[in-house]
Amino acid sequence: MQIAPQNEFRLLERDFQKIVELVREHAGIVLGERKRELVYGRLSRRLRELGFTDFSDYCAYLESPEGESERGMMVNAITTNLTGFFREAHHFEFLAKEVLAAMAGSRSATGRRLRIWSAGCSSGEEPYSIAMTVREALGDDARWDAKILATDIDTQMVATAKAGHYPSNRTESIPPAMRRKFVRPIDDGSIEMSEALKAMVVFKPLNLFDPWPMQGPFDAIFCRNVIIYFDTDAKRALFDRFAEILKPGGWMFIGHSESLFRLSDRFRHVGRTIYRRIS
Ligand SMILES: C[S@@+](CC[C@H](N)C(=O)[O-])C[C@H]1O[C@@H](n2cnc3c(N)ncnc32)[C@H](O)[C@@H]1O
Repeated sequence: MQIAPQNEFRLLERDFQKIVELVREHAGIVLGERKRELVYGRLSRRLRELGFTDFSDYCAYLESPEGESERGMMVNAITTNLTGFFREAHHFEFLAKEVLAAMAGSRSATGRRLRIWSAGCSSGEEPYSIAMTVREALGDDARWDAKILATDIDTQMVATAKAGHYPSNRTESIPPAMRRKFVRPIDDGSIEMSEALKAMVVFKPLNLFDPWPMQGPFDAIFCRNVIIYFDTDAKRALFDRFAEILKPGGWMFIGHSESLFRLSDRFRHVGRTIYRRIS
């Protein structure tokens, strides 16, 4: 990554505050004072690409009608997309042993519909890890209609996720048996997720604060390491909406540093960063 020298572009206080305001308005992401360097570093590249010489001109462009698509690009540049296959592995063990095993044993012939949402899916490793876990637990039984919806505000991440190509070294955290089944090496040394796996996942750009086009209901939602950037009111409103779109008894998986304590009384804590919607 290219690091911009701090004096390449002028970033006035009012420009920084304008960017903070726009990011909050568009993505619900709260950028504190300590994020000034992050803003400078991530947006310098946009300024260079667009030929601006200072942040004031860039901010004026962002606010102009012509700058509409740049507002999305700015949010793409600001979001933090760190992720990995089987990140927080205990969630996938829980999904297999507690959620899917019970479903596989109890569902009637007509009840074999499974819907899981990866909300804030970044470059796709999370939804593909869910898909591999589902496929392993339910097998090739064609009676199951299992689909994963994977969404993110960052349109570039959604495109990467949909392509399903990754450098080989990113797949080391995939259990070897699953790697053999679901990962295909390609000539340039990278890998591609199998077509069967890709067919289970639908990728869509979606800002969690916009209206949701899907109806649900979902059996489980993974929204991990996303809400850390939102303020308390935004988190409360979001978990209320998650509760609405989950089935009663549906499962909610959140990130390792997150908690629903004092945020929502619509979920019961059932395991490490795992909750269940109260019926
Ligand atoms: C750190 S990544 C987490 C990825 C994955 N869930 C995981 O835990 O590995 C956070 C993701 O949340 C997305 N995000 C941030 N604000 C969002 C919003 N308002 N709506 C949808 N996605 C958002 C970011 O674009 C980023 O890809």
